[in-house]
Amino acid sequence: MDLYAKRAFLIDTENAFKISSHIATLESQGHRVVKLNIGEPDFNIPEVVKEEIKKQLDDHNTHYCDPKGLLTLREAISQQIYKTRKLSVSPEQIVVFPGAKPGIGFSEQVYCDPGDEVIYPSPSFPIFESFIRYLGAKPVPAHLSEENDFKLTAEALSALITPKTKMIFLNSPSNPTGNVANQFELETIAKVILNQCHPNVRVYSDEIYERIIFDQQSHYSIASFPGMEKRTIISSGFSKSYAWTGGRIGYAIFPSIEEANVVKNLNINYFSCISPYNQEAAKVALTHPDAERSVVNMVQTFQTRRDFVYEKLREIPNLRCIKPKGTFYIFPNIQQICENLGIMAAFQGLDPIAQSLTSPTSLFQLFALYHHHVAILDRRSFGKVGSENQHYFRIAFTANEAMLAEGISRLSHAFHDTLGFQKFMREQQSLVSSK
Ligand SMILES: Cc1ncc(COP(=O)(O)O)c(C=O)c1O
Repeated sequence: MDLYAKRAFLIDTENAFKISSHIATLESQGHRVVKLNIGEPDFNIPEVVKEEIKKQLDDHNTHYCDPKGLLTLREAISQQIYKTRKLSVSPEQIVVFPGAKPGIGFSEQVYCDPGDEVIYPSPSFPIFESFIRYLGAKPVPAHLSEENDFKLTAEALSALITPKTKMIFLNSPSNPTGNVANQFELETIAKVILNQCHPNVRVYSDEIYERIIFDQQSHYSIASFPGMEKRTIISSGFSKSYAWTGGRIGYAIFPSIEEANVVKNLNINYFSCISPYNQEAAKVALTHPDAERSVVNMVQTFQTRRDFVYEKLREIPNLRCIKPKGTFYIFPNIQQICENLGIMAAFQGLDPIAQSLTSPTSLFQLFALYHHHVAILDRRSFGKVGSENQHYFRIAFTANEAMLAEGISRLSHAFHDTLGFQKFMREQQSLVSSK
């Protein structure tokens, strides 16, 4: 009798968290690691939000509450959606989750049967892909190309839609590329969906980075285009905009109250409800002008860092990268560097099983971490299906400029450290073939 169900090994993971155990090992050995791996703003939550959490705790607001989310918070979200997207949604269409993450898997569970196809951008947030096989559905990655600024085009999407398509994931501003879709691009994507998809196909528009956009550009939601509101789930949350990753509050707006209620039942089954003291504070985050000022200041800082990191990376020979328009990520191409360092040859020399568990940039990621003590994330961390021969990694500029300069300097040394890489391959075989 097997200990585990087969399904337990069909779900994937998020390496931004998984790599933490490697970092902890190095830190326990006394190394100082420059951590540019996790998508977590290095800011404090706005003061008014913190004060509200404390006040709520003093008022003993610590009990079970509505599994859909506090009505006061859902009303504030509904007003915010009207202000930002000109959509009138009932608070009853909104479900609050512990972060923006659970809405992804819950929606896939609620809408997809085995055999259904799920289209998602690749590279993108790994959880879109992670759940698909777990549910017996079929992953259909829409590969984004650097030549096209990592944009999802209407033509590429159109070619992937079949009668079996059940869900389509979109993510703008995009993790890990920093691309931001403009109004025209979303409009053409909307037309394709309206023309080619059955009305029951759902678009999951992950808009968690909606506030982190540079150069005075605006955020657009596909839900705002005529006909799309009834097909789109809008997802967002408080982790990124308010630097509140530990608060675990996110939400999704469903096309109908009925759909929201079906998802609410998953909340009841999994965690019952979200801490009410945090939800009251999330309402303050959405509505208080001081919280808004904190967001604006943080985004300004991210834009300054974006410019700094982009210029520094451009000085590195053989590295190419696109200037992000939003988020706090940059996604350079290091194909030539991998060739020069002997990584491609080392990868080719691995046995087929080891090759299937890694990639040239995965080897570089481990080498950079273990030999140069800088943590970044490889291409495979953002969707594995069909990611072969794509040689990118993600830097999160969620650290101050001094730390970013140190991290990039360490990466530059790693890019030239041929002997170090050979030593790494000789001595750390167990790491190379670990999943
Ligand atoms: C695109 C995207 N969606 C969702 C999430 C999850 O956010 P949360 O921490 O609120 O669950 C992330 C986090 O990195 C993300 O990048």
